[in-house]
Amino acid sequence: MDHFEYSGGVLHAEAIALPQIAEAVGTPVYVYSRATLTRHARVFRDALAVLPRVHLAFAVKSNPNLAVLKVLAAEGYGADVVSGGEMDRALAAGIAPGDVVFSGVGKTAAEMRRALEAGCGQFNLESEEEGQELAEIASAMDKVATCTLRINPDVDAGTHEKISTGKAENKFGVPFDRAAGIYARLAALPGLNMRGLALHIGSQLSSLDPLEAAFTKAGALMQAIRAAGGTVTHMDLGGGVGVPYKAGDVFPQPAEYAAMIARVTADWDVTLMFEPGRVITGNTGVLLTEVVRVKQGAGHPWVVVDAAMNDLARPAMYDAWHDFSAVAPTGARMTANIVGPICESSDTFAMARDIDVVARGDLAVFRTAGAYGATMANTYNSRPMVPEVMVDGDKWAVVADRIEPSTILSAERVPEWLE
Ligand code: LLP
Repeated sequence: MDHFEYSGGVLHAEAIALPQIAEAVGTPVYVYSRATLTRHARVFRDALAVLPRVHLAFAVKSNPNLAVLKVLAAEGYGADVVSGGEMDRALAAGIAPGDVVFSGVGKTAAEMRRALEAGCGQFNLESEEEGQELAEIASAMDKVATCTLRINPDVDAGTHEKISTGKAENKFGVPFDRAAGIYARLAALPGLNMRGLALHIGSQLSSLDPLEAAFTKAGALMQAIRAAGGTVTHMDLGGGVGVPYKAGDVFPQPAEYAAMIARVTADWDVTLMFEPGRVITGNTGVLLTEVVRVKQGAGHPWVVVDAAMNDLARPAMYDAWHDFSAVAPTGARMTANIVGPICESSDTFAMARDIDVVARGDLAVFRTAGAYGATMANTYNSRPMVPEVMVDGDKWAVVADRIEPSTILSAERVPEWLE
């Protein structure tokens, strides 16, 4: 459920008509609904309240906008970060350093040092090598790094191969059958406090079954570590719960996810940690765009919009579907291909799609663009960096400026020897 609805024939974000934002800010622009964000944050949090001890770390990568992080901090979320830059954002939003989980397969020594200085709550180690390096750094700083070991359970998440992370051939975590040995060796190192296991098998999961299989394997490993004298007080179950991108698609609800976890973890006696991203932010945003022109072709007409793959990369990267709706639909429908202005054929949002009839100058949105939207934007073809707006009832504000190509150009230098 979201708060992007038609009123008087015009699509609104909460109480604000989208043409008002387009006129003031220009297009393309991401528009977030604060009420939708808060609602999703609460539904997820409340669903997990059936579990005894829970720590929620929002996956900052899904939407790192500072205003978004502020809202989630106020809802009691910590942060799951994967770079020094994401950590800075989480702290700037007022998230306590102790509520920050540092994930990622390539944490640099400099990032580890900075995270330790800041008081980062937990490092999710992705390898024995990383653990050894962190142990040395922490010892030299006279600190102890609190850690989990990320395991690779070798479970197929059944999602797009580019966002699958829990198969043996993926780069993430340590191989399942070597994890107990690695855990014991890392637990013996000064500078590390090993307190549990972490796993995350992929994103945009449409079924709970692979998660259940992975959690069951992780639980067995946890018991084996305990039986061998190891300590496990925390289990980080990652993120991955998918959202419907197509109107009518049905996805597991947070309550079903929570019920499955309650069943699988009933005898674990740990604090359960979660790293949700898309399930919180996906529905929170739309990408508002204007139709540049409709071009006739050999087949269906080409609807050329002013948003492109640099603004919303998901269709080009993962063949992802985003529903497309006119801001002021007439009721008429057409079959068309929707593309952006970028000079490559991957700049395609949809082929042979049944859509609202649109014409030059009309506004439209790509829906469910709040997760992995603006954060994956770039400036390819020397296009501007797409701006972001947040609506809250009858208020709205620009929460990230459009960065003009001239600003980016001003950061470039021609060396003297080329003058
Ligand atoms: N934890 C870890 C360790 C992760 O790698 C991820 C996502 C999450 C949590 C959050 O997953 P979520 O709940 O959002 O599924 N750019 C892709 C998605 C990449 C996800 C990367 N990792 C997309 O647009 O679909």
